Amino acid sequence: MACLLMFILLVLFQAIIPVVLSHGNAQTCRSYCGNLTVDYPFATQSGCGHPGFRDLLFCINDVLMFHISSGSYRVLDIDYAYQSLTLHDPHMSTCDSIVLGGRGNGFVVEQWRSPFLNPTTDNVFMLIECSAESPLFEGFPGKHLPCGNVSGMGCEEYYNCPAWDIIGPKRVGPVYGSGPPECCAVSFEAIKAVNLTKLGCQGYSSAYSLAPLRLSGPDGWSYGIRVKYSIQGNEAFCKACEATGGTCGFDIDGNSDLCMCGSWNSTSNCDSVHSTSNRIRWTFMDAIAGLLMTEIIWRNLPSLQ
Ligand SMILES: *[C@@H]1O[C@H](CO)[C@@H](O)[C@H](O)[C@H]1NC(C)=O
Ligand SMILES: *[C@@H]1O[C@H](CO)[C@@H](O)[C@H](O)[C@H]1NC(C)=O
Ligand SMILES: *[C@@H]1O[C@H](CO)[C@@H](O)[C@H](O)[C@H]1NC(C)=O
Ligand SMILES: *[C@@H]1O[C@H](CO)[C@@H](O)[C@H](O)[C@H]1NC(C)=O
Repeated sequence: MACLLMFILLVLFQAIIPVVLSHGNAQTCRSYCGNLTVDYPFATQSGCGHPGFRDLLFCINDVLMFHISSGSYRVLDIDYAYQSLTLHDPHMSTCDSIVLGGRGNGFVVEQWRSPFLNPTTDNVFMLIECSAESPLFEGFPGKHLPCGNVSGMGCEEYYNCPAWDIIGPKRVGPVYGSGPPECCAVSFEAIKAVNLTKLGCQGYSSAYSLAPLRLSGPDGWSYGIRVKYSIQGNEAFCKACEATGGTCGFDIDGNSDLCMCGSWNSTSNCDSVHSTSNRIRWTFMDAIAGLLMTEIIWRNLPSLQ
């Protein structure tokens, strides 16, 4: 009798283990890099996160790096509530220093990725020492400059930074005759890509401000690139997957969404009947366990009576 009970327990354990495992594995995609949490839609492991952000983030010596076609940036912050990232480019000009020689990355995102990542509308790009032939100054009737203020931030104020004491700006009005301005502020929306080579610019700065600007001025702005990310209405898939104990990921080959349920992957969620061969394998094992148990109970029926 004791032997039978032990066997039943063993079989039960076998049936329970995969369930426990699938829940234990549920958070395998979340990772930490320095003091930043990397979570959906981002990931540092392939197959995790949303396919729009594949091969984007890399954790190198506890520093989270963001890699796009224009170069690598350090990730300063990921704001999951506002769906934004804050990036830093070491060759970007700030209030304290101006970096010339076209060494800065600017910001150019791969075409396939552009629906998922865009600098925020209140982030200003200040392009520095662009040539008179720059496409920036072409196609504007009456030589009206595309340059202006973005969210109250612009070059007029930026010129007050200590960095400009060395270079000394040529102040130019909104219509230029004597040559292009030393600095031209634009929103990302206006130019779609900040490619310093293509724009013929020597340097750039990027700033955003979370505080009321009027009080702070250019030394109070935050220098960095604020990028809005978007998962294109895919939130429902991931919510449903997580609600059933899964981890959101994607199929590396097909780029289609996958809900990782520990020992198997689902195309919807971990409670679904639509399943892969791995699920069928477990179901088969459950069936064998069930059969074994029935047989044991059947055989021992006379002794139980
Ligand atoms: C993370 O660490 C950096 C310094 O390494 C610090 O500047 C930053 O404020 C920290 N961020 C958070 C959210 O703690
Ligand atoms: C589930 O999908 C992930 C990501 O594509 C893959 O790494 C993993 O091996 C898959 N697991 C199974 C059990 O097929
Ligand atoms: C920037 O523009 C140059 C010249 O048009 C081009 O060769 C280069 O590939 C562009 N860079 C990126 C990252 O798109
Ligand atoms: C930008 O703002 C500054 C300071 O508030 C102002 O002096 C300047 O005229 C504005 N420039 C443009 C192009 O709107």
